[in-house]
Amino acid sequence: MRILIIGSEGTVGKCAVAALKPRHEIVRAGRKSGDITVDLTKPDSIAAMYKAAGKVDAVVACAGHAHFGPLTAMTSQQFMIGVNDKLMGQVNLVLQGLAHVNDNGSFTLTSGILDRDPIRQGANASTVNAALAGFVMAAAIEMPRGMRINVVSPGLLQDSVLKYDGFFPGHEPVSSDRVGLAYVKSVEGAMTGKVIAIG
Ligand SMILES: NC(=O)c1ccc[n+]([C@@H]2O[C@H](COP(=O)([O-])OP(=O)(O)OC[C@H]3O[C@@H](n4cnc5c(N)ncnc54)[C@H](OP(=O)(O)O)[C@@H]3O)[C@@H](O)[C@H]2O)c1
Repeated sequence: MRILIIGSEGTVGKCAVAALKPRHEIVRAGRKSGDITVDLTKPDSIAAMYKAAGKVDAVVACAGHAHFGPLTAMTSQQFMIGVNDKLMGQVNLVLQGLAHVNDNGSFTLTSGILDRDPIRQGANASTVNAALAGFVMAAAIEMPRGMRINVVSPGLLQDSVLKYDGFFPGHEPVSSDRVGLAYVKSVEGAMTGKVIAIG
């Protein structure tokens, strides 16, 4: 398959690339890195990426930011960071991508464990992660031409433990290999409309 991976140089994206590249052609995309640059927060940039990439069999998104901060101090503007970036960036990737993915192809989005296991300061991330689950559940039943869509929801990666030190008390980190396999399951398997939870 020809697979477009957005966020391919990130911590999660590297897991997806490592797991898929032995059997597939990978087209890498990122904000500053990769074969193609794209900013998922800008619909025109997504359009330009698809034009540059040409037809693909699968699109994998491993990018998206949310706001982390205490609920009592959170502003509407801060809350919209997750909505506009992690949620709508990936939703727009699908809405525009429908015309660029081959028959029987797939979309795989990325959310995270805060959809089911909340932490302090994570209300924005929990909200958009759960919204992504709702989106793939409903989008799956309207996917044209045999296409599928899922969202991978990883726990805290072992490689990100230091970066998020103190934010995830008691969470058991997940390995890169396990996270990579979740992307393989979504891209090469048959499931659709599902949250593939790891950890
Ligand atoms: N790390 C974890 O433990 C973990 C666990 C669960 C869920 N997640 C979720 O997984 C996603 C990726 O996390 P990560 O830890 O891999 O992040 P990361 O290491 O910071 O990597 C992010 C990747 O996405 C790209 N990117 C960032 N903003 C972008 C934009 N606006 N448009 C296009 N590409 C963009 C970056 O490109 P450049 O390299 O070019 O800057 C980079 O390749 C996030 O949504 C995160 O919430 C992460």
